[in-house]
Amino acid sequence: MKKCYITTPIYYPNAEPHLGSAYTTIIADFTARVYRSIGYKTYFLTGLDEHGEKIERTAKEKGIKPKELVDSIALIFKKTWQELDITYDHFIRTTDEEHKAFVKEFLQKVKEKGDIYYGNYEGYYCVGCERYYTEKELINDKDGFKCPLHLKLVEKKIIPSYFFKLSKYKEKLLNFYDKNPGFIVTGNLEQIKNSITELKDLSISRPKEQVSWGIEMPFDNSHVTYVWFDALLNYLSASKGFWPPDIQIIGKDILWFHAVIWPAMLMSLNYELPRKLFSHGFLTVNAQKMSKSLGNVINPVELAKEYSVDTLRYYLITKIAFGDDGDFSTKSFKDVHNNELIGSYGNLANRLAKLYNTIGFDQEIYKKEKFDKIINELELKAGNYDLLGIIKLYNEKILPVVDEINAYLNKEEPWKKKENSKKVIGKCLNAFFNISVLLSPLIPHGTYKITKGKTIKEIKENKEIYWIPESDNYVLYKKVE
Ligand code: MSP
Repeated sequence: MKKCYITTPIYYPNAEPHLGSAYTTIIADFTARVYRSIGYKTYFLTGLDEHGEKIERTAKEKGIKPKELVDSIALIFKKTWQELDITYDHFIRTTDEEHKAFVKEFLQKVKEKGDIYYGNYEGYYCVGCERYYTEKELINDKDGFKCPLHLKLVEKKIIPSYFFKLSKYKEKLLNFYDKNPGFIVTGNLEQIKNSITELKDLSISRPKEQVSWGIEMPFDNSHVTYVWFDALLNYLSASKGFWPPDIQIIGKDILWFHAVIWPAMLMSLNYELPRKLFSHGFLTVNAQKMSKSLGNVINPVELAKEYSVDTLRYYLITKIAFGDDGDFSTKSFKDVHNNELIGSYGNLANRLAKLYNTIGFDQEIYKKEKFDKIINELELKAGNYDLLGIIKLYNEKILPVVDEINAYLNKEEPWKKKENSKKVIGKCLNAFFNISVLLSPLIPHGTYKITKGKTIKEIKENKEIYWIPESDNYVLYKKVE
């Protein structure tokens, strides 16, 4: 049986989830639902990145232990994903005993392989990024060197550290990119290639007196593992027989970790490498960067409550071009909700329910070949793990069917009780059922009222199925004024 292993980054539990983390997770959930619906054995992994200096500092500021902090925020993340109806198969936390044991074992093997050595690290550390920068990468400001992302002063540090021989994998990495041109799907491959022309070894431990909240190095308990080395291994430690990942979804800010460090770590122990890496852009809110100080941080749960879970998914997946930066605009969000979810899809349900209840229907199939073709295309793209192609298919071929059915009704005017009215209604009830099943990964809540959980695989085998409305008044989504 075909399988699909999908991952999101594991989030830092130093703050509650926001629109950015919801964006990545929602796209992954949509992907998982598509694959399940067409009958793949699907495994969708998400979770939390709980170690490191950032968490340690946040806990200290709050006057609590790191574990208390991550436990409380883990509950909020899980509740948020539940409220957004995210159907992950496993939620990994890097403080899980199994994960910790796995990381230690992995490090031990890499050491035995000869890819880890002890040395001194000199560099500039940004706590916000949990990483060191070289001078070249920083902004040279009059106050000193600043992190290019956080625009905050970085700290210069010289510390004893274990190193991973990342530089050893330079040629192998370049070779891998060349042989697998589809690996970095979005994101700048040339930039990644350039960035490794002077690939340096990676510092992968911190002395305990500097950071204590982490996994101890198995061969030296005075050092803890660098949080990125620990975090990246979540995809492997929790892979539950689905290795390798087929679709890894990340934000563009963490592309380097996933495109360079991550494959090199796997190469060290000869693991099969992940298939495809999709990095998305950053979201702004009403054209401004999301930030606590601006007070424009959007809580995805509140948004879903005010509008609907489906509106949030629909907007993020179909209105933000994957890979590009995008803007979340409150006005366009409301317009999309009222005009597309209610105006097109919801309205079609309502029209058909009324027609069915007043006029009835004859069993007539609507464009069977059209649905066959769409499903074949979807399967083809899914087989290539072509997430961008899948999203494109939804935008260009699947969603337009809703308007096509509305237009067909307008043209045929079955409410005028013509001779063919029942046939027209039958065709529309048939088309509406099929299109609702196809749309279910995108807008699972509204469509469930129609499909009752039928899958794309099931309609592939039998499209002769009709929506039988249970009342003459269907309100799939409530209007927001
Ligand atoms: N813990 C690391 C990931 C380790 S994966 C082995 C991390 N965590 S994070 O919580 O800071 O960010 C997780 C993801 O959220 C990133 O992919 C990041 O791009 C995404 N987003 C955070 N803010 C965002 C926006 N404003 N817009 C879109 N996504 C952004 O990095």
